[in-house]
Amino acid sequence: MVRNKLDVLIPEDRIQARVRELGAEIRATLGDVPITCICVLKGSFIFMADLVRAIGGDVRCEFLGVSSYHGGTKSTGVVRITQDLRSPIEGRHCLVVEDIIDTGLTLHYLYRMLQMRSPATLHTCTLLDKPVHREVEFKCDFVGFQIPDEFVVGYGLDLGEYYRNLPYIAVYHP
Ligand code: IMP
Repeated sequence: MVRNKLDVLIPEDRIQARVRELGAEIRATLGDVPITCICVLKGSFIFMADLVRAIGGDVRCEFLGVSSYHGGTKSTGVVRITQDLRSPIEGRHCLVVEDIIDTGLTLHYLYRMLQMRSPATLHTCTLLDKPVHREVEFKCDFVGFQIPDEFVVGYGLDLGEYYRNLPYIAVYHP
């Protein structure tokens, strides 16, 4: 794997500080209720692991397998559910945890799909927001960082399944 194509965009300490802030914001907004955090796989698994610890209180973890890129650096716009939730979310306070919003198609689709399952409340959180390529309007409730029009990897985000284990977010230069 060639590492010199990567430039650090958000270092580890800034990510960790922001995740702690997001956790506190989420808990303050939702109040003292059990929160079902829905991790959108695979890109959000590292963010989710840190975020649930930052939220504190009663938290349940659920995992939703989604594939929208199929290994490239451009969105196909096709959202495929590869693994559904294991339990019903009806009547539960839910938080969708996403790694990045690019076109907005994935989160828009997931939001409508989950809303049909009658949760008590449904909020969304993304670590990164790349607003340049937005194709559908989507107002995410909790956003970690806005980033420029670059393909990024690390902290769970991949290119062809690599780089997820980097502790920072880096720009990938092809
Ligand atoms: P959207 O449907 O275009 O908003 O894309 C959302 C999904 O595309 C994310 O969950 C990521 O899996 C993937 N994605 C978008 N931009 C990037 C990027 O810069 N790096 C890695 N994955 C990305």
